[in-house]
Formats: sequence, C-alpha cells, structure tokens
Amino acid sequence: MRFCPIDQLQPSMRLARPLYAETGQVLLSAGVELTPTYITRLKRVGIPGLYIGESETEDLVIPEVISEKTRQQAVGSIRDAFKSIQVGRTFDVAAVSQPVNSIIDEISRNPNVALNLTEIRTYDGYTFGHSVNVCVLSVIMGLRSGLNELNLKELAMGAILHDVGKTEIPEQIITKPGGLSDEEMQEVRKHPSYGFDILRQNKSLSLAACHVAFQHHERPNGKGYPRGLQGDQVSFLGRIAGVADAYDAMTSERVYRPGMAPAEALRVVRQLTNIQFDPKAAALLLDTVTPYPVGTLVRLNNYEVGVVIDTNHRDTYRPVVRVLYQADGRKLPAPAEVDLAKEQYLKVAEVLT
Ligand SMILES: [Fe+2]
Repeated sequence: MRFCPIDQLQPSMRLARPLYAETGQVLLSAGVELTPTYITRLKRVGIPGLYIGESETEDLVIPEVISEKTRQQAVGSIRDAFKSIQVGRTFDVAAVSQPVNSIIDEISRNPNVALNLTEIRTYDGYTFGHSVNVCVLSVIMGLRSGLNELNLKELAMGAILHDVGKTEIPEQIITKPGGLSDEEMQEVRKHPSYGFDILRQNKSLSLAACHVAFQHHERPNGKGYPRGLQGDQVSFLGRIAGVADAYDAMTSERVYRPGMAPAEALRVVRQLTNIQFDPKAAALLLDTVTPYPVGTLVRLNNYEVGVVIDTNHRDTYRPVVRVLYQADGRKLPAPAEVDLAKEQYLKVAEVLT
C-alpha cells in the first residue's frame, strides 16, 4: 500500500486501510473500490489522502505506532473528557488514564518504531486526534530520554489533556479559519491557564501533569504564552509536549491550509531550535520521527518516482525506495529497488504527498 494524496485519487483504486470518522465509525472499509462519487465526497470531507492498495506496493506493511483499537479508545476518552468539562468543568480521570496506559505499554514494547503519524482523520476530529498524537509523540520522546515510569505517565496524561482549556474559549474562535483579531488571539492565549485550572481540581492528577498543559506554549526565547517563561523555567515534560504539539500541528491538514510533509516540518524544528524549540526536546524529536515514512511517494534527484519501502535507522534521510516510474514519467515494466544509503549520488528531491 502507499499514501495517495486526495487530488491524485482515481476511480477503481482500492482502499488499503479503513477510513474512520471522528466518532470512530468506519466511513469506508479496507478493500473498497473508489468510485467518482466517493472521491467527490471525500474531497468535501476534507481529508488529505488515503492509503491505497496497488500491486507494486501490496507487500508493504506500514508500521502502526499504536493499535487502531487503542487509538480509537484514546480519541473517545478525550472527546468524552472535553464534553464533560464543557458541561460541568470536571471529567473522569480514570477513563482517560486507561487508554493512556495502553499507549505507554504498546510503545514501550516497540520503542524503535519508525514513527508514522500520518493518521488519516477528518478536519472535525482535529482536536481529539491531535491530542492523542501529541501524547504518542511525547511518550516516544520521553522513553528515549530515559524518563522513569512515574514521569512518563505524568507526561502522557499532561500531553493528552494539554488543550482541555480550549473548552473555555468560544467555539467560533477555535474553529475560525485563518487570521484572528488581536482580541481573539488574546483569548486563545488563555487556554493553557484555563487548562491548568481545570486539571488541578483533580486530586489524582499530579501537579507535574497539570503543568504540561500550563506550559505547552511557552518557548525557550520567552516569547511563548501565557507567562513568557524562558529556557529551563519550563519543566522538561512541558518542553517535550511543546515540541510534540508544534510538530503535530505543522504536519496536520487544517481547513485553512494543507499539512507539511514530515521532512519539511523537521527542517522547521531544526531551524527554530533554541528560539521556539528546546534543544534537548528538539533533538529527541529529530531522533524519533522519520522524515520519509514507509508508503511516502517521492521523486529522486534523477527524476525517477517511487515509494519508500524501508527506513535506514542510521540515516533516516536515505530510505530504501522502490522506483515505479522512470524520469520521463513512464511506468517501469518491473519496479526497481534502490537503497539510498548505498547509492550516495541519489537522494530524495521532493515528497509527492
Ligand atoms: Fe494548545
């Protein structure tokens, strides 16, 4: 299977992975053949693309960081928490804690998974899918940094709950596409404080977890919010979640802009290290996320086009590519594999997703 961007979907292509609605309901099952009507509807829903099956890439297994079941449970629990907070400012911490434990268990069993966060979700599900992604990414980074079990759980809980303060902000500001007025921006900048106030009412959440929500928009240069803390005035857990949050936001498709490819977002993180991103946390992210996940369609510098089929862990910028199209755009009679770690004259020139 490979990832196919929405504008390149063609009738008769087959879905390799199910497409879920934000409610966890299956919109289209794996194996379904696309029709012109489906494609039109998918464009309306606003997804970035789909994993499709094709004979040349049928054998590819795109590693999942956490199981689909755990992801759905985690998304459901955070959605319920948001709803419950909107009604009565409280929520069931244990109901969130349970899928968070599964996330930690699954990642602990496979800490070297080449991170593939290109989970397909619809726009409406942004907040909840994003909360789970920030949790997953934070846990992987936390494990890599050698956090103990207690701190890892505090980080994971703080990360999945980092945006609960958004429940206090008017819906029309949260979902407004594009620019916000100064007044609206000031309101948005209060969400970490609101989140801290909501979370610290719960005795079963540690103060360290609550501070992750309070600090996730603070920046090393002191230009973050709400308090403008600098450098290590922000807790290490808060710095990890800050980087994870920014990375997932950059790579996510939103109503008002397409998502960046992982390679591009990683470049931004590298450029803004020490300015917007804590150097230690940024190094953990750069070490964790693969710029060209398996299934990515790429153009090489010799203009051949192929699909990434494996990651070289020593140099994630030089994946193994199965070339499907020649430089002139014609399909190769038989696909050819090139390992960019061995063919140093070749490199990835462009991501086509
Ligand atoms: Fe936030």
